[in-house]
Amino acid sequence: MQDIDSKPTFELKDVPGGLPWLGHLRAFKDRPLHTMSEWWCRYGDALRFRLGPKTVHLFSHPALAETVLLSQADQFGKVYEEQRPTGLALVLGNGLVTSSGEVWKRHRRIIQPVFHRSRMAAMADRMAQVGEQRLAAWEGYGEGRVDIAAEMMQLTLEVISQTMFHTSVAQHMDQISHSLHVSLKYAFDSFHNPLHLPVWVPTARNREFRRALQFMDNLIYDLVSARRQSGAEYDDLLSLLLHARDEETGMGLSDQELRDEALTIFAAGHETTANALAWTWYLLATHPEKKAHFHAEVDRVLQGRTPTAEDLQHLPYTRAIFDESLRLYPPVPAIQRKTHAPSTLGGFTLPAQAIVLVGLYNLHRHPAFWPDPERFQPERWLEGERTPARGAYLPFGAGPRACVGTHFATVEGPLLMALIGGRYDMQLAQEQVEPEVMVTLRPKNGIRMTLHRRHKTGAAM
Ligand code: HEM
Repeated sequence: MQDIDSKPTFELKDVPGGLPWLGHLRAFKDRPLHTMSEWWCRYGDALRFRLGPKTVHLFSHPALAETVLLSQADQFGKVYEEQRPTGLALVLGNGLVTSSGEVWKRHRRIIQPVFHRSRMAAMADRMAQVGEQRLAAWEGYGEGRVDIAAEMMQLTLEVISQTMFHTSVAQHMDQISHSLHVSLKYAFDSFHNPLHLPVWVPTARNREFRRALQFMDNLIYDLVSARRQSGAEYDDLLSLLLHARDEETGMGLSDQELRDEALTIFAAGHETTANALAWTWYLLATHPEKKAHFHAEVDRVLQGRTPTAEDLQHLPYTRAIFDESLRLYPPVPAIQRKTHAPSTLGGFTLPAQAIVLVGLYNLHRHPAFWPDPERFQPERWLEGERTPARGAYLPFGAGPRACVGTHFATVEGPLLMALIGGRYDMQLAQEQVEPEVMVTLRPKNGIRMTLHRRHKTGAAM
């Protein structure tokens, strides 16, 4: 295995074959994940390609990832500008994912405490309750087929809503899923399409996007005003946001700031975990011997009970499956940054305003850092196994902008796995499952599975 402390140097290779004006747009736009992976195999860990007028650098080596995200993080900022929103900022505004500088620092300080470890046991109980409610609905499906990706989206959306906002969104589920889908797709397309028309142009697509955004805005503003009117106090994100005061001015957050932060947690907090769980069920369904091992661990530890945060430490194989699933299908497959000024790393210099993609999907399958990288092998995460090289496994990013919900997600994922896996055996009912990038890495046409109740009485064994 390679050592990244030796500070390797790289040759920055140009991907050949770009067209004069479009560059490599067509290949990238049609199949971004496949294309980035293929270029990496052909041209190496540091490469450069063009999307219309933009030159994009793709880095797929742990040493480069660490430099961009950690050791030289001050030179590599987020790509969004508050005055000229593009990509995700068109949807999320200036929330924690898209903001920078002092606003980001202040808001991260406000939001971070809601994810403190001390709050996790209570949150885990709430997650399990929501999971039980969803499983009660599954009873009505009989031994039927479900799209497990859509099911996981609904489940994690309700989890985020109940844990962060103390509210159920169950009755609006279809419309929320639709609005988020429309707006995230629009945001993602705007990243690589130089012909993307500004939002105010009255095309059918722009109108659909604006309607989706309006629906999300109303949902969030209704949540905020209902809480303000009721005067109720809960230990949740909404209370933290409503009570936050600037240390110097004593001012609270504006309605726009509240909207941006709430919508950011809503979107970032469920879509990622839902995809992670969908891929996990897919991997288990296609590896029956690993699934049998998983079911055995869950049955032994829970004996038919609803899992708690405390149980997680006794479910190492379940956690290993989740970690391995995040390795093979990282929900955020690439992290985007932009240089503020000319920056030197890995033996070459990037100009100011250079766009960089840290390719997590490639990093996680790098043959110099992972034995048998394409293989689903949860055992590699168990005690006594070699830990991955620094920077080779970054599903939650790294450095100052690392995921604020890391701990939440690593409780939620294994907990819901244990709850669902204790009750159901799921089998794949679809020939092909294809990954697609739309901000997150999702199964393109969902994942159809058949549900089989494992212990008819509910109590195991
Ligand atoms: C398996 C689940 C998850 C994965 C794989 C994931 C992944 C990531 C990654 C890679 C980043 C860094 C992006 C960058 O550097 O540009 C990030 C940031 C972020 N994530 Fe997550 N995430 C997950 C779950 C969550 C959850 C549950 C929440 C909230 C409840 C959340 C909220 C956020 C926020 C607010 C940021 C921006 C943090 C900042 O810049 O200060 N994520 N996430």
